[in-house]
Amino acid sequence: MTTSAEAVPTRRVVHVASELEPLVKVGGLADVVGSLAAEQVRRGHDVVVALPAYAGIVQGPGWRRIPLGTASVAWGMGHEPAAFELLSRATDGPSGSLGVLLVDHRGERRFFGRQGVYDDPASGEAYADNGERFLFFVRAALEGLLRLERPLDVLHAHDHQAGWIPCLVRTHYAQHPVFARAATVFTIHNLGYQGIHDPFVLARAGFGRELFYPAGPFEFWGRVNFMKVALSFADMISTVSPRYAQEIQSGPEYGFGLEGVLRRRSTDLWGILNGIDVDSWDPAGDPKLAHPYDRQHPEGKWKNRAELIEECGFPKSPDWPLVGMVSRLVDQKGFDLIERAERELLRLEARFVVLGTGQARYQELFTRLAAIAPERICYRMGFDERFARRIEAGCDLFLMPSRYEPCGLNQMYSLRYGTVPVVRATGGLADTVQDFDPASRSGTGFVFQRHDPTEMVNALRRAFTVYRQPHLWNQLRDRGMACDFSWRKSADSYDRLYDEALARVRSGRVPTLESVRTEA
Ligand code: ADP
Ligand code: GLC
Repeated sequence: MTTSAEAVPTRRVVHVASELEPLVKVGGLADVVGSLAAEQVRRGHDVVVALPAYAGIVQGPGWRRIPLGTASVAWGMGHEPAAFELLSRATDGPSGSLGVLLVDHRGERRFFGRQGVYDDPASGEAYADNGERFLFFVRAALEGLLRLERPLDVLHAHDHQAGWIPCLVRTHYAQHPVFARAATVFTIHNLGYQGIHDPFVLARAGFGRELFYPAGPFEFWGRVNFMKVALSFADMISTVSPRYAQEIQSGPEYGFGLEGVLRRRSTDLWGILNGIDVDSWDPAGDPKLAHPYDRQHPEGKWKNRAELIEECGFPKSPDWPLVGMVSRLVDQKGFDLIERAERELLRLEARFVVLGTGQARYQELFTRLAAIAPERICYRMGFDERFARRIEAGCDLFLMPSRYEPCGLNQMYSLRYGTVPVVRATGGLADTVQDFDPASRSGTGFVFQRHDPTEMVNALRRAFTVYRQPHLWNQLRDRGMACDFSWRKSADSYDRLYDEALARVRSGRVPTLESVRTEA
């Protein structure tokens, strides 16, 4: 049998990213880079992920580490030292392994030898030198890739931290045989974070001040915007859901000032829905769950639920529905709606279990709510993979009232774990959850349209009404569990995106310093 996956030619692909599951994770970027790379290995591609060598990397069993030497990396008028290691782990793909190029900085400021990834855990603030840290990462990663001595087909950069890849490949590294025939692809995971830094980084990147002209690719309101640089130079661009691809071109609410740049590249911008790692996120095989279950045998879910209720310290009766939230506590995720609906939420016959860290405002909100109503609100501050999975498994509903959501993974994890999502119709949430329709008995969750506290509470109320009708509820839950969010389809789309980018390289239609200057 020939599958579409087998028909795709093997490619040498390098992902450049600032997070990678299972080595370092802040949010969904890590899950997506890790699971997409693993799927590509399974398809026979030769895949390396370049990652900063953060001090906090947790390297589990099964990884091999090979030193790849050091390099002196051009840095403004001088140089900075870098060191490389190749981590590899056997997988079940034909090419056998996923390689991770760990990029370290050996200069005095030790860009990666720190406890945090983006923020200093001591102050909770972003590191002041993040612009330099991630510019150095990219520049050094390219030097590290030269050591692998293999011509590459695709350099796939993720989010602003890897934003300089497309530009450097078409400028300083354009003549190098390793990159000469490579296509560059840039994926936007979140346009709310663009990497906007002081213009001195331009000199660090090896470009003169004459390129810093208003509205050019290197200038954004008097600063340098790494995301804009990437969007100007990438051969092809993608983002993580079809709906978000439209939203970010529609205006400043979703485009955050880059909507014009995105519209200019409209035909080169594809929306490809994220997949999930269906082996790791499988209620039948999740080692973090005491009671495995699946569609045919959902009984384990009730046991997980009972344990979660106990862990939260909730009374056993009344047995109200249990609503989960696992999230970074930031404005993006719509927590202001919880704030504004506080009184109504406390009157609902429901219980909420919330896990997350982030802005002090929301941490304080949930701490306060849990103190007022411990019998219905449980809040755990922190990052806790085990508890996250127990929430997914033990809850009846999962709430994601996001202001915007490029894709979102938890609604897909929830559907797979038989936990019915209640979401706002934005980005990937709109693309993955269908609103329940009592007339046709179709849909997989509850969807509300506007960023409005009353709409959110009404969606919850609708959900509770259906919850009280077990026959309808079981069907609804089962439809969700039957959804296929595996990488299969989306990895096909990335293969096509790579084909398109490579076709442009072959025909010489690639952005250059000259071409982006005339387009700006
Ligand atoms: P984002 O990347 O915007 O944070 P996603 O929904 O794409 O949102 O991915 C978030 C990922 O991070 C999910 O895997 C989620 O389970 C995980 N996560 C977020 N906060 C926590 C936390 N406090 N503890 C454990 N996992 C968390
Ligand atoms: C971002 C987005 C999230 C998306 C994730 C992975 O962090 O906020 O919606 O799922 O990236 O693409």
